[in-house]
Amino acid sequence: MTDRKTPPRVLVIYFSLSGQSRGLINLLAHGMRSAGVTVSVERLLPLQKLTFPFNGITQTLWRMITTFFRQRVPISEPSPRCFDAYDLIVLAGPTWSYNPSGPVLYLIDRYGKQLFCGQAVLPLISCRGYYRRHNRILGRKLKRCGARLEQSLIFSHPVKEPWSTIGVFLKSAGYQPQHVILLKNHYPHYGHTTEQLRQIKKEGTKIGLRLQNPAASLVSCADKKQAAV
Ligand SMILES: Cc1cc2nc3c(=O)[nH]c(=O)nc-3n(C[C@H](O)[C@H](O)[C@H](O)COP(=O)(O)O)c2cc1C
Repeated sequence: MTDRKTPPRVLVIYFSLSGQSRGLINLLAHGMRSAGVTVSVERLLPLQKLTFPFNGITQTLWRMITTFFRQRVPISEPSPRCFDAYDLIVLAGPTWSYNPSGPVLYLIDRYGKQLFCGQAVLPLISCRGYYRRHNRILGRKLKRCGARLEQSLIFSHPVKEPWSTIGVFLKSAGYQPQHVILLKNHYPHYGHTTEQLRQIKKEGTKIGLRLQNPAASLVSCADKKQAAV
């Protein structure tokens, strides 16, 4: 039951190279919609085509190095609706060499203040398991933009090390680690599991119900818009 006149509005901004973050946000949005939330989804589009997998081992190593140094990946301008006020913005994407991905870094550098100032922002991270630095950097940058940071949602590939690192590297280089004889017992599958997808859908419903409760969202969209002017 809700005593709001209009449904809560959520914007999900995401980048996904190999489809893992996309899978997560789709189900998160599904969960939120099932709780009566209006969800808009914005995909970040790099200006230069980025393909996955990369073209072999050398290219993959090169990507690991450039992403370690947080190389920005220019993107198209976000659509005008992204600059509206929302009850919540979810910013989702993968970890790249312990950092936020290049398109997300570019988005924050270029449009961060306009997009996030005065807004509640929930980071959603898809990774193989090493996300701490990414999460810290993202939180710091978002706060500098004036965002009200919510607790991040982190989803790691549920495979033990060192197999996860080997598997992600081979997958990125264009191999099928789950079919390599010496690996397949340790690396059954690239990415998130069905169970994790179920979990994020539930998380979406929970967030939706929380947004429906006016006591939980202290500042309304209209207030935020006024504050941002
Ligand atoms: C260039 C590159 C670097 C990566 N670096 C990390 C890393 O430092 N830590 C980690 O946990 N996962 C790392 N990963 C794995 C991705 O974060 C993971 O596969 C994620 O689920 C991909 O999400 P996406 O399909 O939405 O792009 C890396 C992947 C790539 C392609």
